[in-house]
Amino acid sequence: MFVRQSTSSMLVLLLYVDDIILTGSDPVELPSFVDALSSRFAMKDLGDLHFFLGIEARRDSSGLFLSQTHYTATLLQRFDMLGANSDSTPMASTPQPSLHHGDLLPDPAEYRSMVGALQYLTMTRPDIAYSVTGCPDSRRSTSGYALFLGSNVVTWSAKKQPTVSRSSAESEYRSVAYVVAESYWLRQLLRDLGVFLHRPVIVYCDNVSATYLAANLVFHARTKHIEIDFHFVRENVASGDIVVRYVSTSDQLADIFTKGLSRLKFHQLKANLSVVSPHSD
Ligand SMILES: *[C@@H]1O[C@H](CO)[C@@H](O)[C@H](O)[C@H]1NC(C)=O
Ligand SMILES: *[C@@H]1O[C@H](CO)[C@@H](O)[C@H](O)[C@H]1NC(C)=O
Repeated sequence: MFVRQSTSSMLVLLLYVDDIILTGSDPVELPSFVDALSSRFAMKDLGDLHFFLGIEARRDSSGLFLSQTHYTATLLQRFDMLGANSDSTPMASTPQPSLHHGDLLPDPAEYRSMVGALQYLTMTRPDIAYSVTGCPDSRRSTSGYALFLGSNVVTWSAKKQPTVSRSSAESEYRSVAYVVAESYWLRQLLRDLGVFLHRPVIVYCDNVSATYLAANLVFHARTKHIEIDFHFVRENVASGDIVVRYVSTSDQLADIFTKGLSRLKFHQLKANLSVVSPHSD
């Protein structure tokens, strides 16, 4: 990402291989910059944003709607599933799928390429992130979070933690650390775009012990083994950039990233993340 800032205007260029998004605050500067670029590089101005890296962007009165409808259709075709019925949730809540149940696939290659392809679909479908990337078998806990800017979810994650935690409070505390790191990154990104957050980022965590761990600056013997890295959570709390609040498990949106859910719960959380069908407007 490149930013050019002057006293009166700002120009932002996002480049990925040969895909570019360009935006700016000055309606005169923008086209003249496109002209300048075109004189140096072979490029084509495709007008308003419609596609970026295969993600469709559609503007309407409520904002920008992102989708991967075309990509999804391609996947269904590629894996010969155009005629398949849809299901109400991406993962069974009981029994949880497991490494130790069922028969091995004769050819794992196709399954692997399917998972790889689905990972790219999670870009606009946070609701399938856990079923694509989670792992119910490992002793390592799955960490999940969603980061909102206003009412929009901007990043999320459903990932196995890289290490085995000794207690559930510890693993919850690690999850808090991941989201604090992500919010730090977002804060920096916004700053590059000239947006300064004057209020703390509020982290909602559903484990009381973890919220205590985050707030307590005293270095407890029982948390000594948690890598020092994770203690930057406390530094962020102490500096006022982060506030960690308790939220009851029933209100924890991140559950959609860490477990198989009932149909009702799944659809509620999916709506909370503003994941809607492209045709629902
Ligand atoms: C959260 O914290 C409590 C103690 O307050 C602990 O006993 C519990 O097992 C923890 N883990 C989860 C996942 O709630
Ligand atoms: C999620 O959606 C439910 C049902 O619409 C609502 O009651 C709840 O407050 C929402 N939760 C959050 C954290 O926005």
